[in-house]
Amino acid sequence: MNDHTGRTTRDGIRIHEAGDFAGMNKAGALAARILDDIAPHVTVGQTTGALDKLIEGMVNDAGATSATIGYKGYQHASCISVNHVVCHGIPGSPIPKMNSVSRDLEKRRKDDTLKDGDILNIDVTVIVDGWFGDTSRMYIAGKAKPFAEKLIQVTHDSLMKGIEAVRPGNTFGDIGHAIQAYAEAHRMSVVYDFCGHGLGRVFHAPPNVLHSGRPGSGARLEEGMFFTIEPMINLGRAETRVLADDWTAVTRDKSLSAQFEHSVGVTSNGVEIFTESPGGVFHPTYR
Ligand code: MF3
Ligand code: CO
Ligand code: CO
Repeated sequence: MNDHTGRTTRDGIRIHEAGDFAGMNKAGALAARILDDIAPHVTVGQTTGALDKLIEGMVNDAGATSATIGYKGYQHASCISVNHVVCHGIPGSPIPKMNSVSRDLEKRRKDDTLKDGDILNIDVTVIVDGWFGDTSRMYIAGKAKPFAEKLIQVTHDSLMKGIEAVRPGNTFGDIGHAIQAYAEAHRMSVVYDFCGHGLGRVFHAPPNVLHSGRPGSGARLEEGMFFTIEPMINLGRAETRVLADDWTAVTRDKSLSAQFEHSVGVTSNGVEIFTESPGGVFHPTYR
């Protein structure tokens, strides 16, 4: 069965039709609304497991489906990545400790309770009428250190620089370059082990959307392409490592990491963001 509309480029990138934007907007709006609604629950003493259960309830109450529950054996409605966890943090599992002395054995806290000053990414993907909405943003439990706030701001702004490069005729390399140039100008590192992805009626499709690159390199952007941009930026070095749970990705040097993600579509003259915050609270401290 092929219920896709549109065509596919030589690089395997689907070109969607004008009517498909409405489906992506609906899915994206729900994912973004859930990220808005979870914000007041991110407090000192809260657990990541409880946050995930709240998110699962919000997905169900909306009559939508979680894209992550059952995906490659994953069992949660969100990924929650605290401090030096880069991405794919598992809600409910004890939070890896920063600055642990052991290099090989990742020390963990006794549980998944958030402490004052923790920064965390919450990543939610929902399916609405068959369309996928994928977005993540940063939250702060209590009060963050100034360097942590700076990392969050630079990561947010690097995503927006990437989005500004989205228009027909530009290339995926232009997006990556915009993100990398901005982050590195602030003496921070772009994670190159994980990337954004095409999406639409599927969760992960071509292309790999790199968050670094050379201007003019990569596939050319065309109207109707749908993909995520989701830069992960580290205060220290770029290298990552996956923990023994086979999911949790952390910075090798245990430096702090942040991430923001939007699902976007290429329009005739620019970009449409499908996962804009309904409450205008995408960034935790910009108002
Ligand atoms: N939402 C993530 C992304 O941005 C993917 C999470 S897959 C999971 O692509 F299984 F870890 F949930
Ligand atoms: Co994604
Ligand atoms: Co995501």
